[in-house]
Amino acid sequence: MTPTLTETLVQRHFSVSGADLCVGGLPVRELAAHHGTPLFIYDGGVMRANYRALKQALQGFAHIHYSVKANPAPAIIRLFASEGAGVEIASIGEYRAARAAGVAPDRILFAGPGKRVAELEAVIADGIDEVHVESYEEIARVAAIGARVGLRVRMSIRVNPVAAAQGGAMRMGGKPAPFGFDEEDLSNVVAAVMAQDALDLRGVHLFAGTQILDVDVLLSQWRHAIDVASRVAALAGKPLHTIDLGGGLGIPYFQGEGTLDLAGITKAVPDLQRLLRADPLLADARPIVEPGRFLAGPGGVYVMAVNASKLSRGTRFLVTDGGMHHHLAASGNLGQIIKRDYPIVAPARMDARDTSPATVVGPLCTPLDTLARKTDLPDLAADDLIAVLQSGAYGRTASPSGFLSQPEAGEILVESGVVEVMSAA
Ligand SMILES: Cc1ncc(COP(=O)(O)O)c(C=O)c1O
Repeated sequence: MTPTLTETLVQRHFSVSGADLCVGGLPVRELAAHHGTPLFIYDGGVMRANYRALKQALQGFAHIHYSVKANPAPAIIRLFASEGAGVEIASIGEYRAARAAGVAPDRILFAGPGKRVAELEAVIADGIDEVHVESYEEIARVAAIGARVGLRVRMSIRVNPVAAAQGGAMRMGGKPAPFGFDEEDLSNVVAAVMAQDALDLRGVHLFAGTQILDVDVLLSQWRHAIDVASRVAALAGKPLHTIDLGGGLGIPYFQGEGTLDLAGITKAVPDLQRLLRADPLLADARPIVEPGRFLAGPGGVYVMAVNASKLSRGTRFLVTDGGMHHHLAASGNLGQIIKRDYPIVAPARMDARDTSPATVVGPLCTPLDTLARKTDLPDLAADDLIAVLQSGAYGRTASPSGFLSQPEAGEILVESGVVEVMSAA
């Protein structure tokens, strides 16, 4: 029988000992008993392995910046920084988290459609590597700040590409969008930038969509970004330093989804290098890939305890102490068009043979607070555990934690049997 996605993920990233799912070498049952529930457990080893696999695939072509929005906990940022990653931030809060994690300003890029003046002033004064501008107002603001502090501010132009990423579940390119400048307007944008003495145009930034699992879609976006970079360099009449290819590398959440073909990236690297070398103005450019989900997602497990098991008109409901207020994405309410279940297990009952359909819900008084619909789980009672896999990215901080004033989830990082408490449950 072909294994389910859940079985594949457990086998690929974690281990099972008797009845117990082990994360970072430790049983989830013990971690939940020590640290309480609801609890995000992050396996540092899995995150490092993902980083290293991607780095290997991009060898000779692109550097990696971790996109902090996926999981802004300083311990996670520190982990990727220790592997050599730079970071991409979208707010002063993310900047502070990156600095708290020990990331130097010259390893940080700032993108985002609505940066405030105070944020720009703070990061520019600190010596941030680049600001990626997304509006004419921002061009003027960044230039004014540069002039005030006597700096030529290193910046790139974020471009909203004409061609949509056909494989992205949440598409951001090729349609009206507040992110960056429309590609059709490039000549005006470059002229506006070049008119400012206090701006040092370094490159371009394209990001067309998230959760892309088809490597050919990703590669065609990257080729398009190189083409856009070439045109910007020609318009500016100067070599470019940065080609930010964006993030968007996907991970499997639902039955039938596969992993991104990293070997396909490796195979494309010579052609991508050739494209860069073909334009003298891009010969020394530094491509950057800035994934969040791909690096952080697979290492995270969200653990809840059952509060009640009840039957309503033939449907078994497992009411837990966790829910959409910690993990909006797993409830299907973070941009999904069709609500489908994330991979889910009973982490202290991995040896159970008899399972039956159960609907897993949280404590909020709304039917939106559903984490699994008629999914197969063993017979579970109060205090038994349920764990959602693929929960390391867009979990806790991408969720409405204030809704119904429930307690926050705890977060721990486990690596080779050592636990770091990031925030207590
Ligand atoms: C500018 C930018 N870069 C990177 C990312 C990270 O995307 P992902 O987690 O899909 O790799 C995002 C996500 O929205 C983004 O807006």
